[in-house]
Amino acid sequence: MIYPIVKFGNPVLEKPAEPVTVFDSDLKKLVDDMFESMYAAHGVGLAAPQIGISKRLAVIDVTFKEDPDAKLVIANPEIIRTEGRHTQNEGCLSIPEFREPVARARKVTIRAQDVNGKWFEKTGEDLLARAFLHETDHLNGKLYISHISALKRDFMKRKIRKLMKAGEW
Ligand code: NI
Repeated sequence: MIYPIVKFGNPVLEKPAEPVTVFDSDLKKLVDDMFESMYAAHGVGLAAPQIGISKRLAVIDVTFKEDPDAKLVIANPEIIRTEGRHTQNEGCLSIPEFREPVARARKVTIRAQDVNGKWFEKTGEDLLARAFLHETDHLNGKLYISHISALKRDFMKRKIRKLMKAGEW
């Protein structure tokens, strides 16, 4: 099932999500649906709050279907190590059509649970590191625009408000 993506302005995107505690067949179905929804929206990462489900769960595939082994499910992720600094344009499926440069750590290690509840650690660099940070932020109710200047953020919000008024958001 493909879920519609929740857009900026919906409060679910700005509240901390609840931990995943049950790793059952319903969760597996949700994860499958999240991958399907992410690919349909041409994204490389999707957090559950972005489909209106306030759970600490995200899916990532920075290869966008190129490498089946690159598909990652992260439940209850924690950032345990970061290294370096790297600025790259960043976007979010919940804030379509906008992109801004964001400085993030270049190398990031997370600790998370997989779809079966098994804890694992994984280190990612560059785009994967960015995805770990971006998706974990989502689960804390934080969007990438909190990492850009207030001036740029206000400009973006004004544009979004106009789109909302025009019924185009
Ligand atoms: Ni996002």
